[in-house]
Amino acid sequence: MNETASTPPARDLLPRHIGIIMDGNGRWAAKRGLPRKMGHQEGAKTFGKIVRYARDLGIGAVTVYAFSTENWKRPRDEVDALMDLLRRYLGELRQHKDDNARLLILGDRNPLPEDLRQTILQAEQESRENTGITVNVALNYGGRDEIVRGARQLAEACLKGELRPEEIDEERFSAALYTAGQPDPDFIIRPSGEMRLSNFMLWQAAYAELIFMHVLWPDFTPEHLNWALWEYAGRNRRFGGV
Ligand code: FPP
Repeated sequence: MNETASTPPARDLLPRHIGIIMDGNGRWAAKRGLPRKMGHQEGAKTFGKIVRYARDLGIGAVTVYAFSTENWKRPRDEVDALMDLLRRYLGELRQHKDDNARLLILGDRNPLPEDLRQTILQAEQESRENTGITVNVALNYGGRDEIVRGARQLAEACLKGELRPEEIDEERFSAALYTAGQPDPDFIIRPSGEMRLSNFMLWQAAYAELIFMHVLWPDFTPEHLNWALWEYAGRNRRFGGV
């Protein structure tokens, strides 16, 4: 199936914020008789290429699903390999300041290795003023977990008398999530043929256009993104209206 296009749509037809579920790394590796971590390694390269391409197109934000709250169930060496890839990416981000990417990590950092937590803080602080593109990396992230944490935070504010329950509206709830202050994703892409959200941005995806593609994430190219963007540009977004 050809899911590629050589050029993207015009800039005013592009989404402001794209979510990507980077799926299919394991299958990519299995097809080649390689260990699963090699698939993640290729997937991390694809991530770098696609973020740079999205930035060059003028897309404001990309959120990628790198590690879910459920991924701790994977074999130890696969989890370690994923953490190493993140370390490497954060290191590269700090060196390549000309990428002009602002990094934010979405998710519960507490269970992460101490050195990684430190590197995340440094990378977030150093990239705070960058304006090229916002890169949200969902790491130890779960959509339900995020909503429960937000609810708890608001409940605590009520108990302390800082907030009244009737003041809780959608805007205030959004501000209690990891993505506080950012626009919701307009478009969520999941490659590899699976057709589900898998606990990704459950609140923020309320009106997102979804697209499911067959290509495995390590094989995903800028031309695949062009094709997906044409699909998005052709959608009629009504937000519940007519
Ligand atoms: C899902 O594929 C992918 C993941 C759980 C990890 C995604 C992580 C990366 C691409 C690399 C690290 C990220 C950054 C930001 C540097 P799968 O393993 O479930 O694939 P399968 O369904 O084919 O087994």
